[in-house]
Amino acid sequence: MKVRKAVIPVAGLGTRFLPATKAIPKEMLTIVDRPTIQYIVEEVVSSGVEQIIFITSEGKSAIENHFDYNFHLDSVLKEKNKTALGKELDEISNLIDIVSVRQKKPLGLGHAIWTARHVIGNEPFMVCLGDDLVLSDIPCAKQMLDLFHDVGESIVAVKRVPQDQTYQYGIVEGEANGRERTFKVSRMVEKPAPGTTDSDLAIIGRYILMPEIFDILSTTTPGHGGEIQLTDALLALSKAREMYAYEFRGIRYDAGDKFGYLQAILAYGIRHPELGEDLIAHIQEIAETL
Ligand code: G1P
Repeated sequence: MKVRKAVIPVAGLGTRFLPATKAIPKEMLTIVDRPTIQYIVEEVVSSGVEQIIFITSEGKSAIENHFDYNFHLDSVLKEKNKTALGKELDEISNLIDIVSVRQKKPLGLGHAIWTARHVIGNEPFMVCLGDDLVLSDIPCAKQMLDLFHDVGESIVAVKRVPQDQTYQYGIVEGEANGRERTFKVSRMVEKPAPGTTDSDLAIIGRYILMPEIFDILSTTTPGHGGEIQLTDALLALSKAREMYAYEFRGIRYDAGDKFGYLQAILAYGIRHPELGEDLIAHIQEIAETL
């Protein structure tokens, strides 16, 4: 069973980032020299996935345009002999096969994933959330696909978080199962009220899901925040078949949050081949003045 497709929901309004996201999708906010969504797409591509399905909504066409070929821009760059830049843009438009599906109503993450059912069909698939950037030696998506190769069942990526932050995440309860950094899921709850779970394993936006999730999603009723929650459908799926949680290697940045976004800019900036050295020197310089 090969995982060939990845669903990336990009329909959200980006209210946490207003006013920056009033007229541009939050996924197009820049981290150093590329939009956040490009990091996710590159992670998926370098993990061997063959097709991406964007779940979009009104006002998100900039994302599709970013990964498309722009004839006018290409001609202008050629005219001006900016061949290296033209080549870079060409590479972005040839990264991977992309399909877009509209989520017609903002009914929640579970509903967004369900919207992809006809494009996915009856095969396991990956889900990557655009807010979660993971810096790691081996792409997070690849780490999950390697585990999937062994277990052949659904996997959710998790990271340990302080107990006083568990209410911000989907939380997984489970038993270590002998494989490194892997847990067999026994229960999951979306944004638990403080004190209602002992687990500190928080879901981070990378999932590999068996296609049975679609039938479950079609009958999942609204949960936390009045939205159709993917976590609620995952809990039902974990009762029907085995499900694993995987504590990935890498640092996760919440690019959908103002402070997380700033942290991501610094983290990716200091690793940038052309800008890193100067940025580090600048950070040291300003740190002394603080
Ligand atoms: C979503 C999921 C949640 C997960 C989180 C990770 O929540 O519903 O289970 O922990 O992403 O980023 P959101 O942050 O979209 O509210």
